[in-house]
Amino acid sequence: MLDALKKRRAIRQFKTCEVERDKIETLLEAATYAPNDRMREPWHFYVLQGDSLKRYEQVALDYLQKRFPTKPHLVESSIEAMKKTPLVIVVTSAIVDHDEGATKDNTFAVSSAIMSMWLMAEHLGLGMVWRTRGVGLVHETALHQFIGASDEEQLIGTLCIGYPAEEITTEKKRTPFAEKTTWL
Ligand SMILES: Cc1cc2nc3c(=O)[nH]c(=O)nc-3n(C[C@H](O)[C@H](O)[C@H](O)COP(=O)(O)O)c2cc1C
Repeated sequence: MLDALKKRRAIRQFKTCEVERDKIETLLEAATYAPNDRMREPWHFYVLQGDSLKRYEQVALDYLQKRFPTKPHLVESSIEAMKKTPLVIVVTSAIVDHDEGATKDNTFAVSSAIMSMWLMAEHLGLGMVWRTRGVGLVHETALHQFIGASDEEQLIGTLCIGYPAEEITTEKKRTPFAEKTTWL
């Protein structure tokens, strides 16, 4: 298990081939077994491929051009990366009316679900990156509207998935846990 966790990487370059439907369903099934408070199962998944993904690209392009008017190269490289992404899954979490604690717990549960998807993706020979910023559009209303999410949902992750076209060989640097741990 430790080996799998150490090997997991953010993959951002993908081959153009499609991800098979059964593999997508396995990713979604993996997510649904994540721990969650009071069994609210607060996640929802929006699967974008083909035409819907092309429309997403346009939404991302419009947003990036407005957000970074002086950085056309940044906009172009971000959109190029999207064009080579065969599958996007946007994951949302349920907002609990008048209950900030429960809403936060839902976010934690959905984050756990995304981690399960990430590990499952690697197990299936796929690569994945969880994006929030830039083309991730998680903090923007544009993507929320585009996928048709309700006001009772918040976006947690834009998962870019595909067969890896890169192998990351650089060492995975992490601060040793001893420096992040207080034994009481
Ligand atoms: C909540 C969250 C948001 C992230 N947002 C982005 C993002 O917007 N763009 C991106 O390229 N990577 C994003 N990442 C991926 C991280 O950059 C990546 O996990 C980190 O560099 C560590 O690399 P590793 O996953 O290979 O260990 C995000 C990861 C998390 C958990």
